[in-house]
Amino acid sequence: MGPNELVAAVRKDLLARFESLEKKSDILKAPELKDLFKQIPALEPHERAEFGQKINALSNELKELVASAAAPIQQLTPIDVTAPMDINTAFPSFLPAEHGSVHPLMKEVEVLSGIFERMGFSIEESREIDDQYHMFDALNFPKDHPARDDYDTFMTVEEDENGERFVAPAHTSTMQNRVLKKYATNLAKGQPIAAVVPDRVFRNEDLDARHEHTFYQVEGVYVHKGVHAGMLIATLQEFLSEYYKKTVEVRTNPFYFPFTEPSFEMALSCPFCEKAGCKVCSFEGWIELLGCGMIHPEVLKAASIDPTVYTGFAWGLGIDRLVMMKNGIEDVRHFESAKLTFLRQFND
Ligand code: DAH
Repeated sequence: MGPNELVAAVRKDLLARFESLEKKSDILKAPELKDLFKQIPALEPHERAEFGQKINALSNELKELVASAAAPIQQLTPIDVTAPMDINTAFPSFLPAEHGSVHPLMKEVEVLSGIFERMGFSIEESREIDDQYHMFDALNFPKDHPARDDYDTFMTVEEDENGERFVAPAHTSTMQNRVLKKYATNLAKGQPIAAVVPDRVFRNEDLDARHEHTFYQVEGVYVHKGVHAGMLIATLQEFLSEYYKKTVEVRTNPFYFPFTEPSFEMALSCPFCEKAGCKVCSFEGWIELLGCGMIHPEVLKAASIDPTVYTGFAWGLGIDRLVMMKNGIEDVRHFESAKLTFLRQFND
């Protein structure tokens, strides 16, 4: 048998043995393989190179067989479980993403929060379920007082530990007590409490073009030594002028809220007709926009702030109305309607 036939015969034997071996790497220690190497010096010099290459090729082939036997039987394509679905699977046919946009109210919440932030106010979030203490008691609404009925408040069947139903907040004033407590330490440091709360509120309203069960308000709270109503008016006039990008006038009328004394309703001069009268202001020249006043001493006391030392003002402004006027929207119900024909108009 010549050298080439010898390698071919050994290869055949070893491949057959490889199949039956339990520990596949034992094939690399096969004595037949070693014997082949030992035969090289006995060959004629011109035969050695070719014979050597054949043995090496066989040795490499066996090594590869051993390596692939150690690898998992089936190689699965790895997936990145943290990747968006379209990386791992075909993209389902959703509404194309380029048609999505920020809701017009959310866009304006950003704008007005930015203005108040630049005026030195912190931005706080409200909540969608609260208790009657924060909605009424802490705001100086006596128990069973008819003023509570003005707020058409949705309530849960479930009751809290005081036997009172939870509420879906009907105004952002529900956050006043928390905000006052949160920032009360500012006062001792000689700094004011200055915060706004833009968020969603709910009322059991009869719905029409001006009334919706779900709407947005921005509450404002400012407390310091020597704060007076002139500062309240100046602050809101400054905000409204900044928001409508032109100087507006404001007008206050006396009003009643349990949590402010004195209380006012504030109107602004129509930013579109400069008081000449137009459709936006129902030809009045003025637009009633918000409730405000000097924070009632009982409300400060409920947050452990001494009303003989500190005074403050607060307001609650309807955001929907503000945005409707800015964009010429005629019906408040569009906002919650989810109508794409409405929403797409704000898709910039
Ligand atoms: N919470 C009142 C409402 O929704 C608005 C309001 C009036 C808020 C006077 C205030 C305020 O903070 O001082 O009708």
